[in-house]
Amino acid sequence: MKYQANSTALSQSTDCLIIGIYENNEFTKSFNEIDQITKGYLSQLAQSQDLSGKIGQATLLHSLPNLAAKRVLVAGCGKKGETTERQFKQIIQRVTQTLKELNIQQAINNLTDVEIKDRDLFWNVRFTVETIEHSLYQFDEFKSKKADAISLQEIVFNTDDAQAQQAIAEAQAIASGVKAARNIANMPPNICTPAYLAEQAKNLAETSTALSLDVINEEEMSKLGMNAYLAVSRGSQNPAYMSILHFNNAPDKNAKPIVLVGKGLTFDAGGISLKPAADMDEMKYDMCGAASVFGTMKAIAELNLPLNVIGVLAGCENLPDGNAYRPGDILTTMNGLTVEVLNTDAEGRLVLCDALTYVERFEPQYVIDVATLTGACVVALGQHNSGLVSTDDALAEQLLQAAQQTTDKAWRLPLSEEYQEQLKSPFADLANIGGRWGGAITAGAFLSNFTKKYTWAHLDIAGTAWLQGANKGATGENAIITSVKKANIIVAPVSITMPNSMMGEVTSKVSEAVVES
Ligand code: BES
Ligand code: MN
Ligand code: ZN
Repeated sequence: MKYQANSTALSQSTDCLIIGIYENNEFTKSFNEIDQITKGYLSQLAQSQDLSGKIGQATLLHSLPNLAAKRVLVAGCGKKGETTERQFKQIIQRVTQTLKELNIQQAINNLTDVEIKDRDLFWNVRFTVETIEHSLYQFDEFKSKKADAISLQEIVFNTDDAQAQQAIAEAQAIASGVKAARNIANMPPNICTPAYLAEQAKNLAETSTALSLDVINEEEMSKLGMNAYLAVSRGSQNPAYMSILHFNNAPDKNAKPIVLVGKGLTFDAGGISLKPAADMDEMKYDMCGAASVFGTMKAIAELNLPLNVIGVLAGCENLPDGNAYRPGDILTTMNGLTVEVLNTDAEGRLVLCDALTYVERFEPQYVIDVATLTGACVVALGQHNSGLVSTDDALAEQLLQAAQQTTDKAWRLPLSEEYQEQLKSPFADLANIGGRWGGAITAGAFLSNFTKKYTWAHLDIAGTAWLQGANKGATGENAIITSVKKANIIVAPVSITMPNSMMGEVTSKVSEAVVES
């Protein structure tokens, strides 16, 4: 789809003019302008209660006097001055749905004049593009009868603000990363194996000269002493692969990299500590951390950000088998700590602990891991916030701000000594589970034993990575929390404490900051 930012005469010809109306017949700027052109036609309709200002409603009008536009779509924008981000999303979703159903090809969007609390035009444009792309997503690869092709081809934002064009470019790269993440995540686990993840990484690496790829196979893992990672993989016929995508594009090619590590369990049956049957299919989504990192790398590459970033996809499968690892086994991890396995379903931390040790070699500026790590995180925060655990207040704060900026929410969980004590084992240095309480935190506490050499944060996306029920599917949106949306933002600590108030300026600010340093 094509997006443009152009200040456009409202009288000009288009398939559809999109304008907003508030409740109680209060009008947006563009509504008033069209009302003038049409000599009061719109306000008359409003007077007779024919136009709804309610969120989620939209009225389609045809052949307005003095107007070359074929149609006008009047979208309800709620109470004037009170439109929230969430409501704005609903408005854009409703508009997109209508454009799609009517097979409209081109539209001029004037909802840039809708005021959203604490948000500016840049945010409005960026959020609109992301929301449209998100709404138009369909995954029908395995359907014999494909979904109808989408007619919509072009949206023009009616603004001459120079920033709008940049907002569009950023949003398109982000949307492209989100889409890639959703596609990989939605793939069935008989296709999306650890080898498939590595294959996708290879394809991505070929799209940019700044990207390169290393893939570590089981033999190499064995030489490296990644015995916890390997133990999880032992029950599966599909061998593990850890893919390492390097994006080397900082002005100083030797600048310390930002490292992102994604849990890539392409299926998690629980192993010998087998999961119950209900909804087990959803454990194909246990690779959403890796999908998120993949999408981030794609967006970063498309934006050509002046950064060094390393994205690790820790691919693996957890199945029961005669050769599978067992409860009671004691594993020696890559950093030397021994772990007593008390539950083979707490496998994510075993894969991640070795991946986190592996990345020490990059002398990271900081490391963020993203993982569908615990059901306990979903119990604690529901499906609307990712859990954040960090040993570094500054990095945690940056991530929280980024989350806030992108409406991709995160909530920090405490990490103190007491939780560490829950992980004591009578036989090994650590147990792989910490008892019944505070499971999302004890999982984070477990990981923190392997991240002492660098600044680190962990995002538990178990609740936010996919939707259940009728709309089952990867969200991409939340899966990508560290990821693409945040990609611009998480670079903040790179450059000093950059105010994050303007997502829009981040890319350029980053380049300035990097040049300065
Ligand atoms: N992949 C799961 C976590 C999960 C469960 C994510 C449900 C989303 C929905 C993880 O590997 C797991 O099984 N964790 C266990 C840990 C427990 C054994 C300490 C869990 O959360 O039950
Ligand atoms: Mn598990
Ligand atoms: Zn898992």
